[in-house]
Amino acid sequence: MAPPVMPTPRKPGEARSPAAVSAVGLRKSYGEKTVLDGIDLRIPAGSVFALLGPNGAGKTTTVQILSTLITADGGHAQVAGHDLTAAPQAVRAAIGVTGQFSAVDGLITGEENMLLMADLHHLPRREGRRAAAELLERFDLTDAAKKPASTYSGGMKRRLDIAMTLIGDPRIIYLDEPTTGLDPRSRHNMWRIIRELVAGGVTVLLTTQYLEEADELADRIAVLNDGRIVAEGTADELKRLVPGGHVRLRFTDPAAYRSAATALPEATADDEALALQIPSDGSQRELRAVLDRLDSAGIEADELTVHTPDLDDVFFALTGGSTPPDQPKENVR
Ligand SMILES: Nc1ncnc2c1ncn2[C@@H]1O[C@H](COP(=O)(O)OP(=O)(O)O)[C@@H](O)[C@H]1O
Ligand SMILES: [Mg+2]
Repeated sequence: MAPPVMPTPRKPGEARSPAAVSAVGLRKSYGEKTVLDGIDLRIPAGSVFALLGPNGAGKTTTVQILSTLITADGGHAQVAGHDLTAAPQAVRAAIGVTGQFSAVDGLITGEENMLLMADLHHLPRREGRRAAAELLERFDLTDAAKKPASTYSGGMKRRLDIAMTLIGDPRIIYLDEPTTGLDPRSRHNMWRIIRELVAGGVTVLLTTQYLEEADELADRIAVLNDGRIVAEGTADELKRLVPGGHVRLRFTDPAAYRSAATALPEATADDEALALQIPSDGSQRELRAVLDRLDSAGIEADELTVHTPDLDDVFFALTGGSTPPDQPKENVR
């Protein structure tokens, strides 16, 4: 089993970029139930950080604490350099939050929803109209702008939700399960939007139940299970945490295959395929060691493939079998 929290490996001399969000020891209980059991987070400015976990892991609770909607029972956190408890107003001013449950009012039009947000941000009328029109255009909602939001598809509602979040031009954005329940096309559309935000320098804290989504978007991923972070790292680092990685060597010449099997006695042999499978974390160092041994024996493989476990393997190993959903479904609390 992996250590509970993986230290952040840093290359020597690499500057530590300032944290947009940092939290130490966040705790939260409801009655007898401990929902967050000491959460540490550090999100470098300008990066995408994914909080990955199954239903009930504590993702929304974390987002609510970091957006000052609820208070933690313990621990402390800073957002954009402001302390959560000492300066909640400054924290609120620095962030944009798109909640798991839509903030869109279905009874009014998309445009009216946007103007309402502009009012909440105290934008002057003209400025509010300009920002609303620009964002509606950017999120491909101009044609639907005058229609009641209740007539929008799921994907359109999410886009409107994010557009509303962007009205105040926040530099830090929390997206709580932005693609849960979306069809694949809308999901990919949302991924593009998130990438564009990051390209514009915004820091994104994203929660998701989808391994693929964290893998696609996030610079770093924290795996949250049952109120604890059970692992943290890049997707590749997480994949190396679990067994199952191996190097596979395939040969066409049976003699070369046999010599290789002798040179690599720890390999699992597949005589029929003339293939050898050597356990490996897929790192450059381990790969080089295998190749060096083949070289010294004067053997060349015809094909070399590296298999690293995918995030699914990681998730199962770390969460002890909590099942990530195969089907997008609404997350009901
Ligand atoms: N206001 C609340 N009162 C009681 N229990 C809550 C409340 N909010 C969340 N919980 C519980 O805390 C746990 C984590 O919830 P949540 O943070 O919503 O998880 P996630 O977003 O990862 O699905 C769940 O077991 C949930 O039932
Ligand atoms: Mg949630």
